[in-house]
Amino acid sequence: MIKRRFYIETYGCQMNIYDSGVISEILTGQGHEPADCAAEADLILINTCSVRDRAERKVLTRLSEISATKKGRPDLLLGVVGCMAQRLGKKLTETWMKIDLVVGPDSYDTLGGIITGLTVERDPVVETTQDSECMYAHRPKTFDSVSAFVTIMRGCDNFCSYCIVPYVRGRERSRPLGDIIKEIKHLVELGVKEATLLGQNVNSYRDGKTGFAGLLEAVDAVEGLERIRFTTSHPKDLAPGVIERIRDLPGVCEHLHLPLQSGSDRILASMNRGYSYGDYRRIVNLARSAIPGIAITTDIMVGFPGETRSDHEATLRAMEEIAFESAFMFKYSAREGTHAAGLTDDVEEAEKVARLGQVIELENSIIDTKKQALLGKEVEILVEGESRRESGFLIGRTRKNWLAKLPQKGVSKGEVVVAEVTGVTRWMISCDGSVRKAGA
Ligand code: 5AD
Ligand code: SF4
Repeated sequence: MIKRRFYIETYGCQMNIYDSGVISEILTGQGHEPADCAAEADLILINTCSVRDRAERKVLTRLSEISATKKGRPDLLLGVVGCMAQRLGKKLTETWMKIDLVVGPDSYDTLGGIITGLTVERDPVVETTQDSECMYAHRPKTFDSVSAFVTIMRGCDNFCSYCIVPYVRGRERSRPLGDIIKEIKHLVELGVKEATLLGQNVNSYRDGKTGFAGLLEAVDAVEGLERIRFTTSHPKDLAPGVIERIRDLPGVCEHLHLPLQSGSDRILASMNRGYSYGDYRRIVNLARSAIPGIAITTDIMVGFPGETRSDHEATLRAMEEIAFESAFMFKYSAREGTHAAGLTDDVEEAEKVARLGQVIELENSIIDTKKQALLGKEVEILVEGESRRESGFLIGRTRKNWLAKLPQKGVSKGEVVVAEVTGVTRWMISCDGSVRKAGA
């Protein structure tokens, strides 16, 4: 068997980062070795995202770049995994690019066997069978980071009209509670202090009688785990019990990522989101009154089919009213096969760009105001490691997920400290004053 040196490049969401870890473990288990960079690898896997056209174009550019280098490196194998592999399948092998394997998200277990039998002379292998029960575990031998993603469910059943995920990731299924806890305990033994629980809609997690609130309790009870985060919450399914657990469980961070998408009820209905702006507002009020200062972050999409100027203004008003701690903001991009792809994509590109510019500008000013208000306050920081930009400094995150920087003196990676905010920029908090260990 040829032992390969593999390198995985990851695009897209946190789920893909987790999956790349799973793939790496599968390949290492088969005797293949990870390479430090693409140039040193003889097997390059690109883990891809299909959520927007732009994400796909970026990957196609990268694939053609690598394909072009194959002339000078005849033994190099190139593979596509992830959502684009699922969506495009065999089509990816029918271009000028020489792609050797295409494997969808439900078939990573077959990767070991596929790669063992693969040589540059062979026809490409395409494996995109969908399996509505497929679930992976991740038990790495070593783990560098103090913060880990842990997938608690896969797939999605919501069918928001714009979204490709239910098609490429299949039906929603939850991972057994026992497996999740085992994985987190294993990660904690490797030095992990923070787990981010991942799912397309974590609020519909279920294992027998245990729902998401029960899962939070079980994870909070894992000894040695300092912090718990989770994403993504769907506003239509967020139960009051989850808000109570954020309030009451010491490990659960005071942060809720709650995609709004639009402030217009007409657009929300056309997106099939299952809530109105009023419903959304009520959840935010409930969370903020139970947990004062909780960070609420969101996703906003502009230029959905039929979005008028006044719909867009409703989104701006909603953003102003709620004042999100942070937002991911996107232009609508039609995805073939989704319900919205059948609607007329009638907001002109220049108008989409302008609307996106407006939401970004508004959100930036909200963040600036929130950051200013932090000056002089104490924050709790989990130290993630040394700053790559500034020597002598450490980087970490506050419970509300702000990125923070502090001097290295007497503090090390993995520690939870309390520090005073002495400076702020839009993307960073500085804590140059005194620092003490949390609980001290
Ligand atoms: N076009 C633009 N943005 C999209 N998203 C999902 N599908 C699309 C699409 N077709 C955004 C949504 C979602 C986030 C992960 O990506 O805002 O919450
Ligand atoms: Fe993640 Fe969705 Fe992109 Fe797939 S399509 S990588 S699930 S964001």
